[in-house]
Amino acid sequence: MADDKEKERFVIQSYGRRRSHGLSETQKDALLNLANEYGITLPTKILNPAIFFNGISKIFVEIGFGAGEHLIQNAIQNPEVGFIGCEPFENGVAKALKAIHENNLKNVKIFKGDGRFLLDFFENSSIDRFYILFPDP
Ligand SMILES: C[S@@+](CC[C@H](N)C(=O)[O-])C[C@H]1O[C@@H](n2cnc3c(N)ncnc32)[C@H](O)[C@@H]1O
Repeated sequence: MADDKEKERFVIQSYGRRRSHGLSETQKDALLNLANEYGITLPTKILNPAIFFNGISKIFVEIGFGAGEHLIQNAIQNPEVGFIGCEPFENGVAKALKAIHENNLKNVKIFKGDGRFLLDFFENSSIDRFYILFPDP
């Protein structure tokens, strides 16, 4: 059982939204059906290149990807890089999952949640680049 300090660490401190308007049917479908394929569940997976197909040698991480525009474009342009995207905003996660599927991207994994959860699950020196674009706060 986490003590109060530990719990406090994982209460998301963000000015951003967790969800805006209700999810559309397409977004619900993406969260239900695509999260298994492209999502990361913690703490069952150690985050290293082995979570992707063979041939991925670098990992870039984007924390707070919003609706995923930068993440998806980056993944399309760099198929040899494995991307881990992290975002607690459900509508954005659903959009990103849909875009991954539509672009048939095999090099992107999504974690829906607070970026601080992720940090404990990277192996030492395993991340080549972090992006945190327009963070709030
Ligand atoms: C101002 S938006 C920028 C979104 C995107 N990076 C862009 O440039 O369009 C900040 C984003 O960070 C996300 N965020 C805030 N706190 C976070 C946290 N602790 N872990 C992961 N993402 C977080 C918010 O949900 C929001 O989508």
